[in-house]
Amino acid sequence: MLAEAVPTRGARSSRQPAQAPARPPLRLVDVVADEAERIPTGVPELDRVLGGGLVPASLVLVGGEPGVGKSTLLLTALGAISAQSGRGARRALLVTGEESVAQVKLRAARLGGCDGVEILAETELEAVCDTLERERPAVCVIDSVQTLWSQEIGSAPGSVSQVREAAARLLRVAKEAGVATFLVGHVTKDGSVAGPRVLEHLVDCVLQFEGDRYQAHRILRAVKNRFGSTNELGVFEMTGEGLVGVPDPSEVFGRTHAGEVGSAVACTLEGTRPLLLEIQSLVAPTDLAMPRRVGTGVDPKRLAMIVAVLARHAGLPLGAADVFVNVAGGVRIDEPGADLGIALAIASAAKGVPVREGLAAFGEVGLTGRLRAATQTERRLEECRKFGSTVVLGPDCETLRRALAAGLADSPG
Ligand code: TYD
Ligand code: MG
Repeated sequence: MLAEAVPTRGARSSRQPAQAPARPPLRLVDVVADEAERIPTGVPELDRVLGGGLVPASLVLVGGEPGVGKSTLLLTALGAISAQSGRGARRALLVTGEESVAQVKLRAARLGGCDGVEILAETELEAVCDTLERERPAVCVIDSVQTLWSQEIGSAPGSVSQVREAAARLLRVAKEAGVATFLVGHVTKDGSVAGPRVLEHLVDCVLQFEGDRYQAHRILRAVKNRFGSTNELGVFEMTGEGLVGVPDPSEVFGRTHAGEVGSAVACTLEGTRPLLLEIQSLVAPTDLAMPRRVGTGVDPKRLAMIVAVLARHAGLPLGAADVFVNVAGGVRIDEPGADLGIALAIASAAKGVPVREGLAAFGEVGLTGRLRAATQTERRLEECRKFGSTVVLGPDCETLRRALAAGLADSPG
């Protein structure tokens, strides 16, 4: 009996070596949580995407293809953070594993305003964590998480296990030492590699930096944010002196050329931000048994649906035509409120007739061919008015009817 009992107890204690005493749960009302003051990054578009600045001791992953401008953006932010004087003065550290200190110095010279940024060229995880715990900067950038490696992990730098370990350790350091940390993570076109994807669940925020490296405009969006809304959009232009925020992207993306066939303006909503976007379309005859529906910046399923609705309910002969749709500026549309704009561009291309000048459209296209109300009609109308749209086309709803009555919108009849 006794001989049996002993090994049983032994086995149990070896499985759970240091059992923590069970703690009673708390009621939320008794939890004390003081919301820490956010750190302004000095880059307004970045602050907007973060939900109003950087939360102290948070871990933010910034993903994007090589060359999109991640290092430039974050060095600019570190520069601005370190340059704040008085009460706002904070230490900002760049851990570079990708570029040499000299390379960073050259970029900093180009950007200007980075004199106060501290830099550490290090790729060994333990050394990086030790430095952070000792120095405790307010903000730190790890460029990139894929270059970090831990001796304790057998695999090569950049492998899934190394990247996971690095992120997990840095998360702990960020919380314990109070260091708000940006992790730079590369993604390739197919989103693979031991990149940001494997870290998304772990970090507080995931920001995606998008845009064609051969074009000037860049889009920063939050795909996960524990401290704010997602789908907030930041727009930048890459210039000779670094990234410059574009406060009015509608001005840049929402303009069409008068009389051009296959072009329409959609008024979309990105997070809380209304945005006018030019949608371009080409409808070309094809001999393919399965005509192509190719969209850049629009969801392929959504595009196929809109084409089908146009063919079925608007009588457009799209069955023997390839349909291409392109959204201005490399923006990706996620919301159905842009449907009508897309439909108009396709209809214009199919008929060879330009859309009325100064027209902006929004509304969700339903399978029955009926237009459904888009969210936040007022915000959209406001944006259309701001950018001088003379005709606003939208689903019949109370808000729009009121706007019509007030002469703010016009019905094309
Ligand atoms: P970079 O920030 O190095 O991209 P990432 O870290 O995402 O790989 O910058 C990418 C490109 O931006 C690079 O090809 C050069 C260009 N660039 C400018 O056009 N102007 C500038 O002021 C800087 C710093 C870079
Ligand atoms: Mg870089």
